[in-house]
Amino acid sequence: MIVLGIETSCDETAAAVVADDRRILSNVVLSQLDAHRPYGGVVPEIAARAHLAHLGGLIRQGLDEAEIGFESLDGVAATGGPGLIGGVMVGVMTGKAIAAVHDLPFLAVNHLEGHALTARLTDDLGFPYLLLLVSGGHCQLLVVDGVGAYRRLGTTIDDAVGEAFDKSAKLLGMGYPGGPEIERAARNGHAARFALPRPMAGRPGCDFSFSGLKTALRRHVDALPPGPLRRGDVNDLAAGFQAAVGDCLINRTGNAIAAFRRDHRDAGALVVAGGVAANGALRDRLAELAAESGLPFIAPPAALCTDNAAMIAWAGLERLRLGQSDGLDFAPRPRWPLDPDAAPAIGAGVKA
Ligand code: KG4
Ligand code: ZN
Repeated sequence: MIVLGIETSCDETAAAVVADDRRILSNVVLSQLDAHRPYGGVVPEIAARAHLAHLGGLIRQGLDEAEIGFESLDGVAATGGPGLIGGVMVGVMTGKAIAAVHDLPFLAVNHLEGHALTARLTDDLGFPYLLLLVSGGHCQLLVVDGVGAYRRLGTTIDDAVGEAFDKSAKLLGMGYPGGPEIERAARNGHAARFALPRPMAGRPGCDFSFSGLKTALRRHVDALPPGPLRRGDVNDLAAGFQAAVGDCLINRTGNAIAAFRRDHRDAGALVVAGGVAANGALRDRLAELAAESGLPFIAPPAALCTDNAAMIAWAGLERLRLGQSDGLDFAPRPRWPLDPDAAPAIGAGVKA
């Protein structure tokens, strides 16, 4: 079985071809970073237009690299949400058109399900497992019981963790996206120099909060001598911020592991996914936590942690194998929680 995947929910235009024996036949991603960088964040209208301009060529490239034509496909999967609606519409319409013309099943994939199932593509992982999803738009802890079976243990009540990295980087005079720059600066900084809060840490439950951390960082920046920020100060603030985020993630994930263990005594793994999972320092700490808890730790390679279409093709494949598909009347969804039973977090951001 071979499925074409399409991803257009944020600022990456992507196409990929994946086979059900877990081979990624192609995986092409076009980042729109340069188009959005001058604005310090993703501009939805620019993103939608760029998806429209590039998606056709990327699909062609994806099929060429996989050395197949449309006739070899068994299905077409496109991100159906959650995300920036203009972009999602471009991907969904394109996927439906290909499905209609070539008489293929169409799968509207939940972007979060793509992230959630990636560890089964890369590591052939069985159910159930615990997932920490940390990206620019999401910060959630989920129990993955099966395809389409997710139980949310916690989510952010304000900013997503990647968003906190990006906003804090901006405060420190760094470019967008801020995560990689903060990680770099933090390597040369002293985390203990500036006192920063660990929001929610120590409290029961698995929810996150990051806006107070960002505000505390701003107070420190404002208290520095006027004039351009000094490199040493920036490094120390970056190190302090990253350590605080790490403490929050470890504390909340620790609670999630305890909850997971109550239901699943022996099985399972801790999986981390999303763009923030590219952070080496945070990965190391999560690996340590998993080891202490006796759980295998799985972090897919960075290129499959950040947004890509291989994860969409794979999630589509998983659903197709179960006999599922979607009608051509599927309507793109700006919001689409993985766990419909989870109460919305108070003050949660657009994508939560
Ligand atoms: O998953 P992703 O590519 O896009 C979505 O948001 O869905 O994640 C992007 C986010 C950005 O906020 C970026 O700053 C963050 O991931 N990020 C990092 C690192 N690399 C990317 N955050 C911390 N450390 C990194 N090394
Ligand atoms: Zn994502």
